[in-house]
Amino acid sequence: MKGSGTMETRPPMHALPAAVLRAEPTVWLNPHRRPSAAVLPGLALTEADLRDAEARWHRFAPLLARLFAGLADGRIDSALAPLAPDVAARVLGGAPGTVWVKADHDLPVTGCIKARGGVYEVLAYAERLAEEAGLLTDGASYAAFATGPFRDLFARHTVAVGSTGNLGFSVGVAARALGFAVEVHMSHDAKAWKKRRLRALGARVVEHAGDYGRAVSAARSAFRDRNDAHFVDDENSLALFLGYAAAARDLARQLGQAGIAVDAEHPLFVYLPCGVGGAPGGVAFGLKLLFGDAVRPVFVEPVAAPCMLVQLAAGLERPVSVYDVGLDNRTAADGLAVAGASMLVARTVGALVEAIVTVTDDALFAWVKDLWDRAGLRLEPSAAAGFAAVGPFVAEADGRDRTRATHVVWTTGGAHLPDAEFAAALARG
Ligand SMILES: Cc1ncc(COP(=O)(O)O)c(C=O)c1O
Repeated sequence: MKGSGTMETRPPMHALPAAVLRAEPTVWLNPHRRPSAAVLPGLALTEADLRDAEARWHRFAPLLARLFAGLADGRIDSALAPLAPDVAARVLGGAPGTVWVKADHDLPVTGCIKARGGVYEVLAYAERLAEEAGLLTDGASYAAFATGPFRDLFARHTVAVGSTGNLGFSVGVAARALGFAVEVHMSHDAKAWKKRRLRALGARVVEHAGDYGRAVSAARSAFRDRNDAHFVDDENSLALFLGYAAAARDLARQLGQAGIAVDAEHPLFVYLPCGVGGAPGGVAFGLKLLFGDAVRPVFVEPVAAPCMLVQLAAGLERPVSVYDVGLDNRTAADGLAVAGASMLVARTVGALVEAIVTVTDDALFAWVKDLWDRAGLRLEPSAAAGFAAVGPFVAEADGRDRTRATHVVWTTGGAHLPDAEFAAALARG
């Protein structure tokens, strides 16, 4: 359905603000949001699932430290750093508050948030295969996953994924490091350098004529009946979602270390760029489990591809794509160029999201340049989305005193951007 633009019935256009339909920047305060104490108990995923994901990351730390240079403690996490007051004031548009950057643009291994989900799902698959093959012995270090018998096993299996780029890269790096064959299905408009980089890893890259949604569904069908392969399903994967969710505990620890209170008196606004929804949804879910209503996740989407906004506004009964409401999904923010949101994510976090803000490509490029010039952050356009959203959101949200609010902008990718690509983005800013 996703991306096809065909619907049996028209989506409820009246539920969508006119500015969204005109592809103009909008702040959509989620009318469906409810207290987390009312929402979380009704979800299929629980805190036990989050703990399970954290434990898996922990088990695999010795392996990650062995496979990836610079990961001495085997943890895939990024810094939490304050923005200088003058830069924060620009971001806030003059409103009071402090702004921190959760620097996943510099996340180890692939320099993007998708590593949290993508690497995690590859590890979970490798663990399952090893267990089924009787290779896991009690108490043995998971560093053994990098040795002969494990690699022989993995070399007989394929990991496949459909991606706009960063998920494919993250899955590809992790799966190739373990010795898997890798196949990445990409839309024709995915960035050429991302395809080149995947091929250089030894991944097979399959290009599709349509958009990202078409690439994902083509890959899903190709791998449906393969028992020697695993398809990482960006739209439907619980493992991806939980891999992202585990980031919540890292952020909570960092906030504690920085002495930042998060409670009813000190709300925490977290700005998350949203494509299909897995990364922001997983992080939002994890944070809600830890902080309840004191945390307010704000998703950010391009004006041409506000798939989560359209889906949540239309209701959760059936999928609705941005094409269905006359938008074209054309954006330079390739990681966010998604026409249809994940229904799994929409149904899980639809009542937990505080707001969705849409931003223009021009604003993304302007912030890429501004944050480089003033704060030395090397961001790709998708990853600058949070900065473009803070000012409009704070201005719109309500008149309450927000002096005690903390704003965390999640920068989701960019450190691995080739120099020429980054220079071109700066030139457009
Ligand atoms: C840099 C960047 N930011 C944000 C996202 C959004 O993640 P998701 O598609 O899981 O919503 C992506 C997705 O590829 C991305 O590449």
